[in-house]
Amino acid sequence: MIQTINLKKRPVGAPTLDNFELTESENNLTIKDGEVLLETKYLSVDPYLRGRMSDAKSYVPPFEVGKPLNSGIIAEVIDSKNENFTKGDFVRDRLDWKTLQVSKGENLQKVDPDKAPLSAYLGIVGMTGLTAYLGLHEIGKPKKGETLIVSGAAGAVGSVVGQIGKILGLTVIGIAGSDEKVELLTSEFGFDRGINYKTTEDMKAAIKEAAPDGVDIYFDNVGGEISDAVLFSINKFARTINCGAISVYNNTETPTGVSVQPFLIKNSALMQGFIVSNYSDKFPEAMEQLSKWLGEEKLTYRETIVEGFENTPQAFLDMMDGKKKGKMIVKV
Ligand SMILES: NC(=O)c1ccc[n+]([C@@H]2O[C@H](COP(=O)([O-])OP(=O)(O)OC[C@H]3O[C@@H](n4cnc5c(N)ncnc54)[C@H](OP(=O)(O)O)[C@@H]3O)[C@@H](O)[C@H]2O)c1
Repeated sequence: MIQTINLKKRPVGAPTLDNFELTESENNLTIKDGEVLLETKYLSVDPYLRGRMSDAKSYVPPFEVGKPLNSGIIAEVIDSKNENFTKGDFVRDRLDWKTLQVSKGENLQKVDPDKAPLSAYLGIVGMTGLTAYLGLHEIGKPKKGETLIVSGAAGAVGSVVGQIGKILGLTVIGIAGSDEKVELLTSEFGFDRGINYKTTEDMKAAIKEAAPDGVDIYFDNVGGEISDAVLFSINKFARTINCGAISVYNNTETPTGVSVQPFLIKNSALMQGFIVSNYSDKFPEAMEQLSKWLGEEKLTYRETIVEGFENTPQAFLDMMDGKKKGKMIVKV
């Protein structure tokens, strides 16, 4: 039996379980020369999938209604007629939300379970780790002694950004959505300070207090009002990495907020959109550094692992709602 999760209908506002449909079909898959048969082991659920559930133009094409969603998946090769892969290999690719599928092997990357746990290839030694490393280095251009503020700080990307900031000698402040997460920022990820945006009435004042010398780098994972508040503390030549804007992904109308231009002009500051795939030429060096730091225990990571393929939509919704710590992963 093969299980598949399709996009049933496009969400308007916040997605719900009604937007997804689980189907089952007979397993009559066969492979031809050059193909491999893959069994899904781990699925990544990520905020950018929300954008792909809409039909708006973006940097990745939208999902089609009635067709499977897809995301980063770790799969096991259970049969192969492709000389590059043998039965028992573990591979990573952006694959359909199916328990079993055939691949031509073109984009499959082998992953080594002896070097890192398989799930980590979807997080810290995968797309979210690369996002943290490359966004911070390529746009943030961090210098020792500077102040870095990170929103979505207890999440997959944010928790790694903050730790890299500490390795590089920065003062690091994180913004997250619960006291427990704020506690995690300092106790587990080594941030200097944290702010719970859900219980803080005046974010502008809280950021000023947490960053008395001002903010040199803002790694923005959430956009919206939190990011508006950071503007009031940016220093001369500050750099903002616009990595994500999860706080407005469910908006049905164009959000309005503080006009950024005066803040940028006054401070000769930079604000730049970031898409990790634009830096693919730098993936090998970034991956090498992340793996080295992980091996030296300078980096750590958290995962929330949900069991069961059929629970993937709920895991996605919980990830969007912040009901998890670190990287949200589904284990089949
Ligand atoms: N540009 C790229 O190439 C790229 C690549 C990867 C990820 N991203 C972006 O980076 C961001 C983080 O991704 P991730 O995979 O690491 O996800 P994540 O942070 O692990 O999970 C999303 C988190 O966003 C927070 N959140 C949800 N609604 C919010 C709101 N209204 N205001 C503030 N925070 C809210 C929640 O944490 P709380 O409990 O703290 O609210 C939730 O746990 C996302 O915006 C994503 O789209 C961009």
